[in-house]
Amino acid sequence: MKTRIKNILREKPLGETVIICGWVRTRRDTGGFSFIEVSDGSCLANLQIIADDRLDNYQSEIKQLSTGASVIIEGELKASPAKGQEVEVHATKIAVVGKADPETYPLQKKRHSFEFLREISHLRPRTNALGAVGRVRSRLSYAVHQFFQERGFVQVHTPIITTSDCEGAGEMFQVTTGKAGGKEEHFFGRPAGLTVSGQLQAEVYALALGDVYTFGPTFRAEKSNTSRHLAEFWMIEPEMAFCDLQGNMQIAEEMLKYLLADAMTHCPEDMELFDKFIEKGLLQKLQGVTEQEFAHITYTEAVDRLKKAKKQFEFPVEWGLDLQSEHERYLTEEVFKRPLTVTDYPATIKPFYMRVSDDGKTVAAMDILVPGIGEIVGGSQREERYDVLAARMSGAGITLADYQWYLDLRLYGSVPHAGFGLGFERLIQFVTGMTNIREAIAFPRTPGFAPC
Ligand code: 4AD
Ligand code: MG
Repeated sequence: MKTRIKNILREKPLGETVIICGWVRTRRDTGGFSFIEVSDGSCLANLQIIADDRLDNYQSEIKQLSTGASVIIEGELKASPAKGQEVEVHATKIAVVGKADPETYPLQKKRHSFEFLREISHLRPRTNALGAVGRVRSRLSYAVHQFFQERGFVQVHTPIITTSDCEGAGEMFQVTTGKAGGKEEHFFGRPAGLTVSGQLQAEVYALALGDVYTFGPTFRAEKSNTSRHLAEFWMIEPEMAFCDLQGNMQIAEEMLKYLLADAMTHCPEDMELFDKFIEKGLLQKLQGVTEQEFAHITYTEAVDRLKKAKKQFEFPVEWGLDLQSEHERYLTEEVFKRPLTVTDYPATIKPFYMRVSDDGKTVAAMDILVPGIGEIVGGSQREERYDVLAARMSGAGITLADYQWYLDLRLYGSVPHAGFGLGFERLIQFVTGMTNIREAIAFPRTPGFAPC
């Protein structure tokens, strides 16, 4: 039975026979010995294997082993005299499972740029940094479920194919059979697309089960080639019945702090790697975020601050215009130097479902901005009044009949409710310090790019 390197390094079963299945990182020969560093992906650290010519394939295979080759090693775990490692394996058997031709294998010992690694997305998880992102992402996905399940939220699998454009921004990828002209064209009887958000369907379940969340893939056909946009990303969307904007803000802040703390507790080695090589001071930054209250201003105050700023912005600042990434980052990085929740945006720049405030001009919206990224969470209290919602939808050019099911929720037992969306990759960016969102997901999809 194979033993994971992670468990070997934790439990250190000295004197026991262990079996390791992994990939060669490096091989070094001295005299009649070879030192082989092996990784099995279970943790950041490699395990050192010592082989010598008592192995019958030592000359024929072991001394030819190169970076990337796969091996199964059996041997005894011993205390290591070498610096920087506590244990090593003295191999009694090494099976070479798959070779990796050093002439063509693209990953060599030196550090490769992330741009280069994106071109070989089928091999990049074998690097220290991308492997670490993979493990942290998996852990955080688990922690998301843990956070909500511990609080009694029910997970809803909202649809991926939908006939509703939640954000109303016309950024839906269309779903068709490709058989244009025929009856088949609209497989569902009307135009359908890939979801831009599970929110509208999550609202259905919130108004039945109380507190719910959905966590799934989300698609946007926006031609934004930036370091924080993907055409396919994952979103965490809680939706709470009998909840207002204040309650929404609280749960969002609590969730973010919970997730940061979870990554630091459960992925300490990976997080140290990011702190050392990706963003110096990362751990201190994250620790600080978990200990401080988030700052809070209204959109109107944000506009005032931006107008008074000494900084020259590329995009104009005017009440009624949306905040751009440069504005968001200025506020969170330079003014507040911590996460910042901005609320009460103009109704004209926000989607139809947000609750109109008493002033008639703003909606009960909230965005959470974090240093280095800008918007990481977007949410709101929802418009629960039938007439107000219908008017907003008509104003947005929506055919009410297509969304009667959504309006019905305001007809039968409507309640104040609220929710938000956390972009999972933006969270991963924030936690790992990766500057480009393309490193926060295994297989990034961006305009013109989807290689496998
Ligand atoms: O602000 P957004 O568009 O909000 C919604 O979709 C709401 N329906 C959510 C809700 O209230 N249930 O998106 C929410 C978050 C953003 O703050 C951002 O983190 C992320 O989703 N996001 C993206 N992440 C990567 N690539 C993109 N193209 C993204 N667009 C949004
Ligand atoms: Mg938003």
